[in-house]
Amino acid sequence: MDISVSNADPAKIKTGCLVLPVSNQRKLTGSAAAIDNASDGFLSDVLKQGDLSAKPAATLTLHNLPNISAKRVVLINTGKSKNTDALSAAEFEKIAAAHAGVLAELNSKDASSCVLEIDVDNRTPARMAQSLTQALVARSYRFDMHKSKKSEPITLTKLSLHCSDKKHNKSVAKGGEFGVGIGNGMQTARDLGNMAANVCTPTYLADHAKQLKKSLPSLKVTVLNEAQMAKLNMGSLLSVSAGSEQEARLICMEYKGGKANAKPVVLVGKGVTFDTGGISIKPSAGMDEMKFDMCGAASVFGVMRAVAELKLPINVVGVVAAAENMPGSKATKPGDIVTSMSGQTIEVLNTDAEGRLVLCDALTYIAKYKPDVVIDIATLTGAVIIALGHHTTGLMSNDDTLAGDLYDAGIESSDKCWRLPIWDEYQQQLSSNFADIPNIGGRPAGSITAGCFLSRFATDYKWAHLDIAGVAWKQGAAKGATGRPVPLLMEYLISRAG
Ligand code: BES
Ligand code: MN
Ligand code: ZN
Repeated sequence: MDISVSNADPAKIKTGCLVLPVSNQRKLTGSAAAIDNASDGFLSDVLKQGDLSAKPAATLTLHNLPNISAKRVVLINTGKSKNTDALSAAEFEKIAAAHAGVLAELNSKDASSCVLEIDVDNRTPARMAQSLTQALVARSYRFDMHKSKKSEPITLTKLSLHCSDKKHNKSVAKGGEFGVGIGNGMQTARDLGNMAANVCTPTYLADHAKQLKKSLPSLKVTVLNEAQMAKLNMGSLLSVSAGSEQEARLICMEYKGGKANAKPVVLVGKGVTFDTGGISIKPSAGMDEMKFDMCGAASVFGVMRAVAELKLPINVVGVVAAAENMPGSKATKPGDIVTSMSGQTIEVLNTDAEGRLVLCDALTYIAKYKPDVVIDIATLTGAVIIALGHHTTGLMSNDDTLAGDLYDAGIESSDKCWRLPIWDEYQQQLSSNFADIPNIGGRPAGSITAGCFLSRFATDYKWAHLDIAGVAWKQGAAKGATGRPVPLLMEYLISRAG
């Protein structure tokens, strides 16, 4: 999508679709007033007839306005009673989503939007532009790689952002680009998540990283195979892929946009390309959804793409621990004891608690990058859905500042997370008669004890864990990957980039 910023008279903008915000107040202001004047009161007449619903984000499409260069004019209701009432950021995001919705329905090739005129609390025009373009990219998402007939693509190729004050032009253009970058990152995350697990294997993910390098040469990609991991004593990670024909992979992507000596942010994604549960096999109902068990990894790919496309001036390393969890004659059995790269021995009491087993070796391995902070992202526990539902990511951390920054980034991006404690009381639930640590801590506080397990390996750096089991995909008719938590992670990284 080609984004431009314009300060032109809205009546003279040649576009397929001109989008104007209006409130429920009869008197029009801003661009809507300009269009109303130029069209001899056309908008006032329409509004007087009550054709535009009073509901927030309601839209009305108008054609052939006299003296107006735009082919169509779309009115979008802020839902406020006065022109001067400010919207909350969440209310603006509903406007952005509805805006994306009408343009998609009209299948407009180009559009010009005046919604940055809306007054939004704690939102600059640049940040509003970001929300808008992110919503537009999200709305254009299609996943039909496995269908023999492809659906019609949505073809908004040109967007002009109307800016009433020239001084914002540069920042608005940048905000617009950021939204597209984040949107593209989400598309990558959704594509990988939605792919069938017989296609999206650990090897496929490794190839995807190499593909990404081709289009973004600033990435450095290295892939470890099972023999190389065995040499590094990654007995825990390898115990997960032991039952599968598919070999595990540890995929590392380094992006250096910052100073050569600046310590990187390291992202570690759980990439279990299918989780049958292993010998502790899962019930069959809904098991297809365990193809989404690599959505943490998918979000790492999405972030790496967005960071590289946007050329953020920071250093980021993305690491994906990819394995398939299958039962089989070589599979790990309950009670088996494995030795992790850290040297800690683990009693595998439940082979379905495999995410932590792949992550713990990755967490040990990445210390070599001398990270400033480490964030792992994982569809780790069903228990986090019981705690926080499908709205909020579970956050655990050994560092209050990092936890606070991620919480803030969640609020800012509307991709929210909420912290759970990993206090000593919970750590004590992890005790084994036979090894240093068991891989499960009982039913109570299942998400927390999973976080506690990971904390035993994240000892040498500031670390946070995001349990995205409840938010990474939708069930039911709209079944599919959401692209979360790419917006949260990008918000965090962009604010670090300053
Ligand atoms: N991938 C699952 C977690 C999961 C379950 C995500 C359902 C989304 C929906 C994970 O590997 C798992 O199986 N966790 C177990 C842990 C238990 C055995 C301690 C769980 O949550 O039941
Ligand atoms: Mn599992
Ligand atoms: Zn899993």
